[in-house]
Amino acid sequence: MPGKITVITGPMYSGKTTELLSFVEIYNIGRKKTKVFKPAIDNRYGEDIVSTHTGFKVKAFKVDKSKEIYKYIDETVSAIFIDEVQFFDIELIDLVKDLVFKGIDVYCAGLDISYLENPFEVTAKLLAIADEVIKKKAVCEKCGEHRATYSYKIVPDGGEIDIGGKEKYIAICRECLHKLKNGR
Ligand code: ADP
Ligand code: TMP
Ligand code: MG
Ligand code: ZN
Repeated sequence: MPGKITVITGPMYSGKTTELLSFVEIYNIGRKKTKVFKPAIDNRYGEDIVSTHTGFKVKAFKVDKSKEIYKYIDETVSAIFIDEVQFFDIELIDLVKDLVFKGIDVYCAGLDISYLENPFEVTAKLLAIADEVIKKKAVCEKCGEHRATYSYKIVPDGGEIDIGGKEKYIAICRECLHKLKNGR
């Protein structure tokens, strides 16, 4: 039986990693073999873990290139979980399609857009081929409503790829972002 592709997306702090790890738990409870991956660029929480903003952590394989994921896959693996997909190379798309054909369920989590409001290409392509899309929202750090769909950088520009957390980014809703950009 073929596997399925699930993509969890949304702004920072929307609970993407939390949801990804909750799916890991579901497979583990069912005694199904799982593997968790993250891009080597994301060095926020140390080498070999994926962590949520609340500090919940699981062991993960850190990969420089998508193709390295193959090294960790064999016929006993039921599902793989990839965090921060926006930082992977574009070859991740073909790898995901291939693994799904081999019967592996693939869960991906990542940002849909950068703080400059540019879509991240890898996430966009995964969303286009997903069987299931979970779009998360965060609490807007300006108005307090649970409708933030954007990440806003609160420090001087460190580039579109710029690892960090609350010291650099807040979650914000479209209306509050519009007000900020218009100086209100
Ligand atoms: P993501 O991977 O999408 O950045 P995480 O799953 O790592 O998100 O973290 C989600 C957690 O972040 C929430 O459960 C909450 O405790 C915390 N959090 C901090 N700021 C916010 C916010 N603005 N909106 C929602 N949750 C937030
Ligand atoms: P998160 O979605 O788990 O909060 O992690 C997002 C990571 O992406 C975090 O390290 C900050 C980084 N980031 C960028 O590099 N560029 C961006 O435009 C945004 C919004 C986040
Ligand atoms: Mg995350
Ligand atoms: Zn708002």
